Amino acid sequence: MPTSPRRRARPAPTLAALALAATLLPGAPASARPAGETLFPSQGNSGYQVRVYDVAMDYQPLTNRARTRVLVRASAKRTLDSFHLDFSGPRVTEVLVDGVAAQHRRTGAHELVVTPAEPVRRGRFTVSVSWQGEPPEHTDADGSTEGWVRTSDGAVALGEPVGAMTWLPSNNTPGDKARFRYAITVPTGYEVAANGDLVGRDETATSTTWRWDARDPMATYLAMVAIGQFDVHESATTSVDGRTIPIWSFTDPTTGDAADAREALPGILAFNEELFGPYPFTSAGLVVDDARVGYALETQTRAFYPPGAATTSTVVHEVAHQWVGNAVTLTDWHDIWLAEGFATYAEWLYAAEHGGPRPGQRFKALYARPASDDLWSPAPTRFTDSSQLFGAPVYTRGAMTLHALRQRVGDADFFAILRAWVRRHHDANVTTRDLLRLSERVSGEELDGLFREWLVRDGKPRGY
Ligand code: ARG
Ligand code: ZN
Repeated sequence: MPTSPRRRARPAPTLAALALAATLLPGAPASARPAGETLFPSQGNSGYQVRVYDVAMDYQPLTNRARTRVLVRASAKRTLDSFHLDFSGPRVTEVLVDGVAAQHRRTGAHELVVTPAEPVRRGRFTVSVSWQGEPPEHTDADGSTEGWVRTSDGAVALGEPVGAMTWLPSNNTPGDKARFRYAITVPTGYEVAANGDLVGRDETATSTTWRWDARDPMATYLAMVAIGQFDVHESATTSVDGRTIPIWSFTDPTTGDAADAREALPGILAFNEELFGPYPFTSAGLVVDDARVGYALETQTRAFYPPGAATTSTVVHEVAHQWVGNAVTLTDWHDIWLAEGFATYAEWLYAAEHGGPRPGQRFKALYARPASDDLWSPAPTRFTDSSQLFGAPVYTRGAMTLHALRQRVGDADFFAILRAWVRRHHDANVTTRDLLRLSERVSGEELDGLFREWLVRDGKPRGY
């Protein structure tokens, strides 16, 4: 659940915010940061880390029902007598640990508790979870819809922040990134898009199994499966470091083929490479489908757009996320400005190169807003409720923070910081403190005051 009654009654976020502020104080011990994710403390599980999710699904578009087996390849950090996966999906029919039947029960809104016949010993193990039925949608604290979202001819799985648990038994927290492999079987005449590279299409007389492989580590919130009747567009582009990047785009013919967005994509990839360095993944593309959600989502390698959403600025934003958010991923949701502030700033930079206002002009106009404006509170890292994850402070004040940093350290150091950020942390997880440290190292300046003023202190930042 987005916010449990316990969280409302006794706000853990205050603690989280304090811990976060502590991480920003110079010299704060590394242990100041709590071990677990603090916005959704009931998501994610300690004790193991996932290496691969192997998803085998048989899906019926007419009924929206699926038979699914997810093989989770994990590493136990210690001996485990039992362990949890996050799952709010349909009936679980079988759980195997290292191939042997295991006990399992469902508790709370989304816990699947597995007790293997023998304790799992430290090191590699597998857990296979089979489920059957119609996966649910998930409603976020801000009222938006995610999870397994039905479309007119199939469904789309979208998972930011927590919706992956509606269909994927998982360690559903951004700090545990894994490889994803999909083998999704649909009746002939339907197509399946997912993350990563299209590695096979096995046809029988009545069905096709679509095989996708997302080799580069991915957070569960970035997993995407789109099933329906699509126009499939295949092309390729070349990355700055000379790799051929296949582009697979899936567009719903009833809502248009998104030709403008598809044509713009290679140029937008190239723009972001200039900013952040080589494209971090092995394939790209986009998906347009008629899911009734009010947002686009930077699903890894292949962002998702509802009808009409694939405008130039939104495509720039979702493509930027492939570097900032996807390759370099927050550890704690309170640091989501590290994704949204950066992607918004990429939009500002792109627009400036294409006849739009300069970032400095935007900054000035925004800074002129009165102290009472929603932009200023809470500070980007200080929200206390998951309904504020996608608010103006995170996106717009987050982007302003980067502009303030740029003004302070100068263009050369600022753009060096952006590239070093991705070079150092791609495939990994980060905190705001990592950015502070890197920015100080590159610029030689003390920046904790600026970070605190822009990211931690509620109210309009002083002195601009
Ligand atoms: N991260 C998306 C973006 O590119 C927004 C996702 C909103 N998700 C939601 N459940 N409301 O900005
Ligand atoms: Zn975004």
